[in-house]
Amino acid sequence: MLNTIQRALFASGLTANLILASKSVKNGAMTAGDIIMMQSLMLQLINPLFFLGMMYRTFTDSIIDIKLLYSMLSKQPTIIDPVNPVACGQLSGKIGFNNVTFRYPGHNQDTLKNLQLNIDAGEFVAIVGPSGVGKSTIFKLIYRLYDPQEG
Ligand SMILES: Nc1ncnc2c1ncn2[C@@H]1O[C@H](COP(=O)(O)OP(=O)(O)O)[C@@H](O)[C@H]1O
Ligand SMILES: [Mg+2]
Repeated sequence: MLNTIQRALFASGLTANLILASKSVKNGAMTAGDIIMMQSLMLQLINPLFFLGMMYRTFTDSIIDIKLLYSMLSKQPTIIDPVNPVACGQLSGKIGFNNVTFRYPGHNQDTLKNLQLNIDAGEFVAIVGPSGVGKSTIFKLIYRLYDPQEG
């Protein structure tokens, strides 16, 4: 809006100037060269003004971004570490699900129920099932995008 108003003001100003100047040329108060000079002066003046307008816009945009950034930083994550976390110890490369029951927050049906799954290091396991059965959910739990309710 700022740029639009700026440009509209400039265009109407230049038009008014040109009309007045051509009248002055007609009655001999100005020469044709004067019109050219007036126009170049206007153009030289307007560029820094446009630049200022752009700077102002970038500046306000950045302030809005900073506000968003701070509001994200102060957000409380839904996955929180326990007060006394258990150390992992040396990683064995095993993946184990021990009686894991999980439902998505706000859902009233368990997506995984008493899941028992042990994968040894280096072992290849295929998880097969129809769409929506919970295959991807297993990976979301491994990545700890969610915490299980049980297990
Ligand atoms: N982010 C989510 N929020 C709520 N329900 C979900 C979400 N993601 C998946 N679900 C539901 O959980 C079930 C299992 O989904 P998903 O693990 O993606 O299945 P699959 O990968 O086996 O096709 C589906 O019924 C699906 O609608
Ligand atoms: Mg999937």
